[in-house]
Amino acid sequence: MNRRELLTSLAVALGPVPWLACPTVARAQGAQVGGTTPPVNVLEFEPMARQRLSRSVWDYISQGAADEITLRRNREAFDALRLRPRVLTDVSKLDTRLELLGQKLDFPILLAPVAAQGRIHSGAEPEAARGASAAGATFIISTFSTTRLEDIARAARGRAWFQLYVNRDRGATRDLVQRAEVAGCTALLITVDTPVNPMRDREKRLGVQRPYTGQSSGGRVSPIYSDALEPTLTWETVAWIRSFAKTPVLLKGILDPDDARRAASEGLAGVVVSNHGGRNLDTTPATIDALPPIIEAAQGRLTILLDGGIRRGTDVVKAIALGAHAVLIGRPYVWGLAVDGAAGVQRVIDILRDELEAAMALCGAPSLDRINRQLVWPER
Ligand SMILES: Cc1cc2nc3c(=O)[nH]c(=O)nc-3n(C[C@H](O)[C@H](O)[C@H](O)COP(=O)(O)O)c2cc1C
Repeated sequence: MNRRELLTSLAVALGPVPWLACPTVARAQGAQVGGTTPPVNVLEFEPMARQRLSRSVWDYISQGAADEITLRRNREAFDALRLRPRVLTDVSKLDTRLELLGQKLDFPILLAPVAAQGRIHSGAEPEAARGASAAGATFIISTFSTTRLEDIARAARGRAWFQLYVNRDRGATRDLVQRAEVAGCTALLITVDTPVNPMRDREKRLGVQRPYTGQSSGGRVSPIYSDALEPTLTWETVAWIRSFAKTPVLLKGILDPDDARRAASEGLAGVVVSNHGGRNLDTTPATIDALPPIIEAAQGRLTILLDGGIRRGTDVVKAIALGAHAVLIGRPYVWGLAVDGAAGVQRVIDILRDELEAAMALCGAPSLDRINRQLVWPER
């Protein structure tokens, strides 16, 4: 039986199957790039992005730290979790809306801060922010963006947060936070998992030189210190930023329940459970494995986000089932940006949204508050 006969017999058996009969539908929904078939899921953007980028840019995006054990773990841990669907629930209306830090979101997926997007697309961060805005997602602007944060915030059209790498120059740090507020960023994420340069072997192989201060320990000049990073960053620094920040402040890069407890008692608005996409300290747990004890420690006092390895709508359901309020995606939207600019970013978000809705419906959870611990099978 050839393909046409197969489709015809399916149509006879099932009635009209419009998306099979009409290939233009699929094309209209997806980025038709260079004559290849449009990606049907987020993972399919990865090889397409790789094809379009130089080796060094590809390594910049995809690398993890050292042996990349944490990088792999982030994915493996999601795959290992088993969903436990409930049936016979009316799922004719699905509601993915939520309120996060007093802000209304249509769905629980935000775009993680990613530095130097000018390396990925000539439109850089404003191009990605336009895609996010078209899809209705919040864009988190990295301190190390290629373009001015004001231009990115404008492209994000009112849906932007700012990610801060604390600068050694406190005046510059304060100016940056205040510029982000004036530009309309409605939350501040302080990245706390990067006081020094991480050990990224792929970067070393490429001979990437990071600017370093030449600080020494025991007389030794160490390349781990960077002019752009602040090794004296502590809870006192965070309290100082909170003393003048006008938007909610969250800590990005929390993996330990004691740090989450301290964040809650210090009055922070929230934390991002993150291992920096496996890029910083290798051999930490996957973020989804680190999440449950953090939820317990926070006792409802913090907004809790999670990132690292989210590639499917089912991953979003699992993160929310285990207690996260929302998730961030990093590499997936970067692949979208490389493949098709703003349209690619938009498509990546749309696909994840579709998958999230399907997963919720098939789990018998028509709204986010119906996604709970019971939807994940207990561990073996
Ligand atoms: C190319 C790249 C650049 C990144 N730059 C930053 C950054 O400037 N600031 C930051 O806090 N995190 C940065 N991250 C980490 C992301 O915000 C996020 O934690 C991570 O990518 C999530 O994992 P995922 O890529 O598996 O979705 C970067 C990640 C990538 C892949």
